[in-house]
Amino acid sequence: MTAEAGLPDTLRDLPGWAPDAVELADLELLLAGVYRPLTGFLGSFDAAMVIAGGRLADGTPWPVPVTLAVPKELTAHERLVLQDPEGVPLAVLKVTEAWQDPTSQGWRLAGPLEPLRSPAHGPFHSLRRRPDELDPVDGPAAPAEGGRAAGNRLCVATREPLHRKQLGQIRQVAEQLGAQVLVLPLLSGEHDESLVRALLGVRKELPEGTRIVPVPLPPRGDHERDLLLRAHVAAAYGATHLLAEQEMEGTAIPVVVPEPWAYDADVEIWRPVARIEPDHVQAELTAERLGELLDAGEPVPDWFTPPAVAAELARARPPKHSRGVTVFFTGLSGSGKSTVARGLADALVERGGRTVTLLDGDVVRRMLSAGLTFSKADRDLNIRRIGFVAAEITRHGGVAICAPIAPYAATRAEVRRMVSAAGDFILVHVSTPLEECERRDRKGLYAKARAGQIPEFTGISDPYEVPDDADLVLDTSAMAPDEAVGRVLELMVAGGWLRTE
Ligand code: ADX
Repeated sequence: MTAEAGLPDTLRDLPGWAPDAVELADLELLLAGVYRPLTGFLGSFDAAMVIAGGRLADGTPWPVPVTLAVPKELTAHERLVLQDPEGVPLAVLKVTEAWQDPTSQGWRLAGPLEPLRSPAHGPFHSLRRRPDELDPVDGPAAPAEGGRAAGNRLCVATREPLHRKQLGQIRQVAEQLGAQVLVLPLLSGEHDESLVRALLGVRKELPEGTRIVPVPLPPRGDHERDLLLRAHVAAAYGATHLLAEQEMEGTAIPVVVPEPWAYDADVEIWRPVARIEPDHVQAELTAERLGELLDAGEPVPDWFTPPAVAAELARARPPKHSRGVTVFFTGLSGSGKSTVARGLADALVERGGRTVTLLDGDVVRRMLSAGLTFSKADRDLNIRRIGFVAAEITRHGGVAICAPIAPYAATRAEVRRMVSAAGDFILVHVSTPLEECERRDRKGLYAKARAGQIPEFTGISDPYEVPDDADLVLDTSAMAPDEAVGRVLELMVAGGWLRTE
């Protein structure tokens, strides 16, 4: 792939490459100066030193390896155009080293970057700021007006919405420090808009002059390294302090841990625990309980979080009975997948209240995957396509019912991941034994496979990896199709995806 037209002539012949989502986030932060002193992707020595000891080769503390993976073919070039997923050129990488990752053996390119254009941002792009685009600390209430002292800026870098407790703690710490508050919603590619909306929704509850600037920073490394990286990013944005839940040494700017707060059930406000009578301290709403409330479609209590946040939480995690879900059947040809899947689709349509899309194996192969063979690579591609469509259906709150053989565990796991990012995933193994499938041989394919007329036939001359992560196992040699459908419906009702009739 070469870079598209519109590039200077000197760059037009360079090979192009589209980094993955995390690398693109790194690229953006490198170009924006947020990762200073880093100016490009790391070489082998720096990366090894960072992984081993959290320092670059020259001793500068740096928490995570910022590297760029490429296919081997691209390692022979001196310069490379880095593109976004749509092929828009973003930067030129001047390659100083092509190296092989010692663990994965994958190839990496290191070198400085020359920016071409700023990355296109999705929703809320108008909030994005590079550090040099952010107003200086003293905005509306400068020290001269009796406001903030010493240009302190308190950074709250978060992947979670802020509830009443955190809001109170932030106000308290900001006041103690005389600091302006800078909230950095850390974008990870999942539920980003929801996070930003939830944070914008509590702006009124934050000190005046609070800035909200989304930053692409997917979680990586362990908790400690992640916090160290957040401190670097906060420092780049001119923060003098980082709010955190735990003390940490060696951060780019000091970490401030707020004193514990709780809800005072007597006066019905959140405040420092030290100021509450012990028997008035109300127990926290645990993450688990919050999840249960959302799953059941029950309101999140107002004492816990402001209504704007509650609304976003419910949008991001809708009640189970209206949340998107993929029911993925896997099993041998002739095992009964299609019959049970069709029966399930019919039953759901009869019940109403849910939109249903059936992606049957044979039907998909005539449309979505027309032209694909039964080689491992093509089967994987077929399943990925099904997974992609199922994930989209799930994202839109529908029920996707898939029924391919899907013989490989790793590919099924990939689909589970794709779908789970958008909603829920149920794996049903139709475990009808090979002998029974072969005895049925409705399409006469087993006979042909045995006679060597169909190569790579699943179960005969090609593998089927039995799932060890199925949510339900159905053997249709031991039960009628209606019963099998009934079992899936029971599971969906028990799990809350369907209301009890
Ligand atoms: S998968 O392996 O990619 O998941 P898929 O479910 O799409 O397979 O297609 C399986 C159907 O294709 C079978 O039900 C059968 O009708 C037909 N088929 C044709 N050739 C083969 C083969 N070599 N192995 C398995 N199924 C085959």
